[in-house]
Amino acid sequence: MNMIDKKKIVVLTHGGVGSDPAHADGTAIAGQIGMMGLQTGEPVLDAACNAVTILEDDNRFNAGVGSHRRDDGSVQMDASCMDSSGTFGSVAALEGFRNPVQVARIVSQSEYRVLAGAGAAKFASNQECKTVELDEINNTGTDFSTTDTVGCVVRDGDKFAAALSTGGINQAHSGRVGDVPLIGCGLYAGPEGAVATTGEGEAITMKMTAFRAYQLIEQGMDPKAIVPTVIDWFKEPTTAFGIIVVSKTGFAGGANQCMAWTASEIEVPI
Ligand code: GLY
Repeated sequence: MNMIDKKKIVVLTHGGVGSDPAHADGTAIAGQIGMMGLQTGEPVLDAACNAVTILEDDNRFNAGVGSHRRDDGSVQMDASCMDSSGTFGSVAALEGFRNPVQVARIVSQSEYRVLAGAGAAKFASNQECKTVELDEINNTGTDFSTTDTVGCVVRDGDKFAAALSTGGINQAHSGRVGDVPLIGCGLYAGPEGAVATTGEGEAITMKMTAFRAYQLIEQGMDPKAIVPTVIDWFKEPTTAFGIIVVSKTGFAGGANQCMAWTASEIEVPI
């Protein structure tokens, strides 16, 4: 009998805590893009970023063209990506670009780890990243102001990655930066798995949430146990929070409010 070596490919995507579960068609399409990328040999970092790009292009979610506005009417976006080889890049308070996660991906390949504000915009412009006009953002007339950061985690055999993107908190002070561009706060990926969170950035940051969730993976906890454990860290006072996790033992997602999210797993020959 021929024994064929196989590996697992897993993609989880979320539309942010507070997003309508009826919008899981959007997270499913993003997941399919990630899955197709992995099946055609794309690196895990690119697959996670390309899935998040689809969520940024879906104006029902708070990222890219769906981003919330600041108290001065501006739109400032944060995004990040990380993979299990230790690659990390992020942007903070980026204005005028359609897909901040792609800018973060390019930052991750540069000599820098985090770029912010006007300098990040200049970097994105030099890289010919796709721009967006202010009046193209959040212009549907529908109120999605309760939604938060979108995200993706992927597994390709023993490789993992995570990516995030957000317009931040609705009506927050301009210049405010949350958890998303900070390593180990909104996201973390390592040789044992990947974590992407969504919710109130200040609380997520102060708990160094994604790195501590990753440590639970390292300790051998299964994602199905990690998700309720980490959600429990946000119960007093109740703070909007959601999380997706993938490891070598499985995957899981959940939130303490409604959240559109989807997961898919396949096994392929190596
Ligand atoms: N979680 C996104 C933010 O607080 O900015």
